[in-house]
Amino acid sequence: MLDLKVVMMGLGYIGLPTAALIASRGIRVQGIDVNQSVVDTINEGKIHIAEPALDGLVKHVVEKGLLKASIIVETADVYLIAVPTPFKGDHEPDLKYVESATRMIIPNLKEGNLFIIESTSPVGTTDKMAKIIFEERPELKGKINIAYCPERVLPGKVIYELEHNDRVIGGLDGESTKAAKDFYRHFVKGELHSTNAKTAEMCKLVENSSRDVSIAFANELSIICDKADINVWKLISLANKHPRVNILQPGTGVGGHCIAVDPWFIVSEFKKEAIIIRNAREINNYKTDWVIEKIKSTALQFELDNNRKPTIALMGLAFKPDIDDLRESPALLVADTLLTENKYDLLLAEPNLEESKKYNLTDYELLDGKVDIVVYLVAHKEFRGFRTESLVLDFCGVKSNYFE
Ligand SMILES: NC(=O)c1ccc[n+]([C@@H]2O[C@H](COP(=O)([O-])OP(=O)(O)OC[C@H]3O[C@@H](n4cnc5c(N)ncnc54)[C@H](O)[C@@H]3O)[C@@H](O)[C@H]2O)c1
Repeated sequence: MLDLKVVMMGLGYIGLPTAALIASRGIRVQGIDVNQSVVDTINEGKIHIAEPALDGLVKHVVEKGLLKASIIVETADVYLIAVPTPFKGDHEPDLKYVESATRMIIPNLKEGNLFIIESTSPVGTTDKMAKIIFEERPELKGKINIAYCPERVLPGKVIYELEHNDRVIGGLDGESTKAAKDFYRHFVKGELHSTNAKTAEMCKLVENSSRDVSIAFANELSIICDKADINVWKLISLANKHPRVNILQPGTGVGGHCIAVDPWFIVSEFKKEAIIIRNAREINNYKTDWVIEKIKSTALQFELDNNRKPTIALMGLAFKPDIDDLRESPALLVADTLLTENKYDLLLAEPNLEESKKYNLTDYELLDGKVDIVVYLVAHKEFRGFRTESLVLDFCGVKSNYFE
């Protein structure tokens, strides 16, 4: 066992796997969450989120006494913050969770400690938290190390990626960067890249903004191609034959809690400068509205032609293919909008969810013959083999023969 104690603030999708991985290296970890039921679940050796291989790892480190959850922070050597950073109002970053986690840590801080923020944060957050710390504890100035180290894992592969991805580590000074690198070396096999805190903060935001801008280009193309009567999937596959062109696939919009959120942290701070980044966000949001309008106009045409309202199947609710995560999902926004309008006979299929408390789900395999319009919103692999005689609207390319 290493003579090091770590406190992890926030035991969600990032904090819990990170805490468990650190503990698996023989380091004592105290996991803190403000949600008592999360704390109780983890102390029973169980997990409250869906992530492959996490349950076994948490059970193992809890049984060994290396990971203990609590709502009260104890003293430690290293403090990590992985609490939510949503936005509020007009897409302004909401730092209240990071600030409250910082304030919970402050009374426990002592000379030689390392304080690291992992939460996705607007530029300048690490500096802001340092100011709060030194306002409360001026005697610690120059005596603790403070750094920012963003997370870039893929849900579904978190345990592997936590260990193997490269990390960008930015301290408020050189000594802090070095101290943070020494710490991550205990459990990260990927390369550790040194920079300053501001650059590390911006790096995370830029990674997701870059994805957002690329997807916006594909989504804009899909709208242009619809008007020009060109199969966008075929077009993109042909354009991508160019050795230096790599256009992404269009879809129902952009969802999830990262790509659809993080670019706003740049836009809100650099209002005049962040033109492409803002436009990309707006195009990707508009694509979902466009999909809704397409479904409605197709339903209206069906009604005019057949003198009755169509039954419509919405295929997929998750925010991307082959997962069950509905957070910020554009497909869910389509379903919610059409359900709220209450004008359509809708059937919802999401093969990655066994059941839902809120939605009445239908088995997609039983849909054929029961619906007039099949709308593909998410390119789940299950849908590739689904055959139907109904009218098809494919917004995610799952049915387009673009490899012909
Ligand atoms: N989930 C991802 O794939 C991912 C990837 C990269 C970065 N991030 C970033 O990591 C951060 C955490 O995201 P997440 O998905 O793990 O969030 P989450 O919502 O799954 O978990 C956050 C946890 O923090 C707890 N919490 C809130 N305030 C607290 C406080 N003051 N003290 C202790 N616990 C507190 C909540 O109860 C919750 O359990 C966010 O900034 C997010 O943008 C997430």
